[in-house]
Parts: sequence; C-alpha cells; structure tokens
Amino acid sequence: MAELRHFLDLDRLETKTLRHILDLGAALKRGEVPVGPSLSGKTLVMIFEKPSTRTRVSFEVGIQQLGGRAVVLGENDSQLGRGETIADTARVLSRYADAIVIRTDDPKKLDDLVAYSSVPVINGLTDHSHPCQLMADIMTFEEHGGPIAGKTVAWCGDGNNMAISWIHAAVRFDFSLRLACPKELDIPPAVLGWAKDEGADVKVVRDADVAVANVDLVVTDTWVSMGDTDAEKRHRLLKPFQVNARRMALAKPDALFMHCLPAHRGEEVTDAVMDGVHSVVWDEAENRLHAQKGILAWCMG
Ligand code: CP
Ligand code: NVA
Repeated sequence: MAELRHFLDLDRLETKTLRHILDLGAALKRGEVPVGPSLSGKTLVMIFEKPSTRTRVSFEVGIQQLGGRAVVLGENDSQLGRGETIADTARVLSRYADAIVIRTDDPKKLDDLVAYSSVPVINGLTDHSHPCQLMADIMTFEEHGGPIAGKTVAWCGDGNNMAISWIHAAVRFDFSLRLACPKELDIPPAVLGWAKDEGADVKVVRDADVAVANVDLVVTDTWVSMGDTDAEKRHRLLKPFQVNARRMALAKPDALFMHCLPAHRGEEVTDAVMDGVHSVVWDEAENRLHAQKGILAWCMG
C-alpha cells in the first residue's frame, strides 16, 4: 500500500510537497481543476476538542466544493469525551472516513491518531502548532507581496503554537524571522535548535520595536490561547508586544499585517492596524479555504 499522505506539520514535510499543495490550492482558487482523482463521494471526518470558526467552516465548505462531504464531531459529540482512546477512535473512524482532521490540545494525540489510522490525518491545530493556518498565510503573503523567500517577518507576542509554525515556515519557505516574545512565554528551545540546525535566519529578540524594524510582514496572535489558564499574567507580560499604528509604522512602508484570528482588538492588535491599509487579515481568512482545498486534494486525491 502507498504511504499515507498525512498533513501534520511543516517541519515534517518537504518544501517541494508544501509548494505543490500551495499550487494546487491556488489552481483551485482560480477555478482550475487539477488533474487527478476527484474527491467525489469521499468523506472527511473532523474531530474538534477545542472551538473553531475558520478551520471548521473552511474545511467543511472546502470538501463540499471538491465533491465530498464532512462529518463534524464537536467536543461533546463523540465518545472521546467519555474516555474512549484516540487509538480506538482512529481504528473505527478509518472504517468510515477517507481522511480525518483533528483539533486537540496535546500533540501526542495527533501522533496516536496517525499511528492507528489507516487514512490520512490533518492537523487542525494543537498546543504545539497550526500548520494549515501557515499554508494560508504563505499564500496570502505571496498574493500581496510576491515570493516570501528572502523577505523578513516579525512575530510579536506569545511563543505559542502559531509562533512555532511560523518558525517551521521560515525554514521551509526560506525567509528571515524575528520573534519578539517575553522570556516567560518563550519559544521552546528544541524548535529554535531545529531551525538553527537547518541553517535558518530565525532570531528571538525581547523588544518588539527592534523586531518590526524594516520588515515586510508583521504578525501577531491572541495573548491567551485556547486552554491557557493564566490570562492575567499573560496580559501583563504581553502588553508591551501590542501591534499598534506607531509600531506598524516602523516596518517597511508597504509592509503587510496578518493575524490568524480570532483577534482581540485593543489587546494584541489595535483597530487602527486591523482595519488599516497594511492589514490583509480577511484575505488571510479566505485563503484558509483555498489552501486547505490544496491540502485535501493532496491528502485524499
Ligand atoms: N485561525 C483559526 O484557526 O481560527 P479558528 O479557531 O476559528 O478555526
Ligand atoms: N494561538 C491560538 C490560535 C487560534 C487559531 C490558540 O491556540 O488559541
């Protein structure tokens, strides 16, 4: 049997595969139908152990547009919440589904699903990473700003799952990354070590003004991710990393602003930036649909 095409993390796939997926997504966005088996009659099962607007709706609409259908299991819809193991769930769902998307907390659950699934698995976000979002983000940057290779991106805020996926992307898509994070909410050293071993230009700085100086793209994310329980501490630590108009003006004049959303206006980003001329956040959200259709076509086609 051919090896299953799981979409788990950008550091687990080669650049040429990621580029192929983005090309598929872009072709579908242009209305071209890529050559290859259709997804007609195929079923995507989605497990959400955390809330979602974009991931859920874009995958559900995406599989429908490709001729398939989706079954969505929310937090209280399956026996996972009552203690059935991921391994047993994977064995059962594989008998019904042609691919499985999971959004969960512990990345080990994703690996368990992969170990026991006989169909492709797609990472719809864990506490460690959010690779589907990064595919949409790269597509969006390149639509507005041209090839991302050789460009410089600034991350302002928490050293969270999105920050980790941006590091994976910097390596795979060959751009420089400046991450401004408080020491207390730092990037896991293993991820920085991997980027260094890969020869990437990824640097952590403590001053957000230094990080954004003259960059091509400024990115941020919520101060309190799903599952975080220390909101008060996070607000105190992350306040100095807010992306506001003064800070955005330190980037290149034609710099872009992106945010995976949901945004907390007035916290990590101000209205002036969210709704300002640099912001491409709505295109970014739309591209979740197109990039993920590329992922579905690659995994299931
Ligand atoms: N950006 C993102 O994944 O949004 P949702 O949590 O709404 O899916
Ligand atoms: N870091 C955020 C991303 C949401 C899409 C979270 O995990 O809640």
